[in-house]
Amino acid sequence: MSDLSVANNTATKAFDVEAIRRDFPILAQEINGKPLVYLDNGASAQKPLAVLDAMDRYYREMHSNVHRGAHTLGDRATAAFEGAREVVRDFLNAPSTKEIIWTRGTTEAINLVANGLAPRLKAGDEILVSHMEHHANIVPWQMLAERTGAKVVPVQVTPEGELDLDSFNSLLTERTRILAVTHVSNVLGTVNPIAPLIEQAKKLGVITLIDGAQAVPHFKPDVQALGCDFYVFSSHKLFGPTGIGVLYGRAQLLEEMPPYQGGGEMIERVSFERTTWNVLPYKFEAGTPAIAEAVGLAAAINYLDGLDRKAMEAAENTLLVRANELIETVPGMEVIGTARHKVPVMSFKIAGLHPSDIGTLLDQQGIAIRTGHHCAMPLMNFYGVPGTARASFAFYNTLEEVEKLFTGLQKIQRLFT
Ligand SMILES: Cc1ncc(COP(=O)(O)O)c(C=O)c1O
Repeated sequence: MSDLSVANNTATKAFDVEAIRRDFPILAQEINGKPLVYLDNGASAQKPLAVLDAMDRYYREMHSNVHRGAHTLGDRATAAFEGAREVVRDFLNAPSTKEIIWTRGTTEAINLVANGLAPRLKAGDEILVSHMEHHANIVPWQMLAERTGAKVVPVQVTPEGELDLDSFNSLLTERTRILAVTHVSNVLGTVNPIAPLIEQAKKLGVITLIDGAQAVPHFKPDVQALGCDFYVFSSHKLFGPTGIGVLYGRAQLLEEMPPYQGGGEMIERVSFERTTWNVLPYKFEAGTPAIAEAVGLAAAINYLDGLDRKAMEAAENTLLVRANELIETVPGMEVIGTARHKVPVMSFKIAGLHPSDIGTLLDQQGIAIRTGHHCAMPLMNFYGVPGTARASFAFYNTLEEVEKLFTGLQKIQRLFT
């Protein structure tokens, strides 16, 4: 048995995209007789061998239920599971592991917070979101508003796809209780200037939640530097397994919030007269958790820590720059979302073509993109489109793949318009 800890990975690899691609076995296959070009990373990213191996090893050598302490396997599973929590704490630069709650993903994390904040809201209070939110950062707040009489108020976006700061300034008022905004838009790729927004909100005592689902695959957030109350993300977009996500919450707020679900693990004592809650973070983790998935997520973060972050961000930016250069080679192509600060995500339409046809025809060439409303119907309405085609890049994509996308689009455009 080797070291049980999943918290250590020291070797820093230089940024060599071909070597990196060998770490992702799924990429080396053909789809419809063509080499796979995977450009649907915004929906879910692929997993490196380090993640597959860590989960396999966990099941082969360590699996048992956690926090039971009666035998050696239980201790191993608990060490791996709590070690993973420490990896996430370090990733977010959170002050304490008691502020790291495992959830099923971003969606569950936001629902947990919305539920927990219900006792603080009353009729007339406002929850500020933005027009570019994913439904996961709209609907839970609408459900909360329904329960409490509060109102969900959307901050406008500009035609370029940036948050409209005048709209933000006029809508952030003494009625605002919660600010829930995305760090990075899943449709537009816009990186929002969340630090100053949080700072302004805090001055009015507003509770802040940041949806980091699309940010963490591209850069490391620092929750202490940001000063947010809650930060949420999903493992599967961060090159980790599905079925697990993270809620970072400030301890004081988490202490004050009621539990989300009841059951085993989240209690201190149960009797028919009175039940009391476990300490943080367990108060919010009812039932047997996703243990192997936590181990897998930690392995993904450790893998990323082994890469040169600056080189990775530069390589991603090169992909976006090349994609932008090639837009004019496809007649009738229009990009939606041209913010100054973007991650490599490109939503677009092509005159005369339905987005879903673009997706199907690209798939025939081995190229995977996403089409549709991207769970952002209010944003689609704002742009007056039923949906878009979206190519979302990861650090393992190559310039050659960007070029293949555009060659593919040129072909489709020639054939069908
Ligand atoms: C910005 C954003 N928020 C929330 C979500 C929801 O994430 P999940 O389905 O993993 O809970 C997504 C997923 O696409 C997203 O892009």
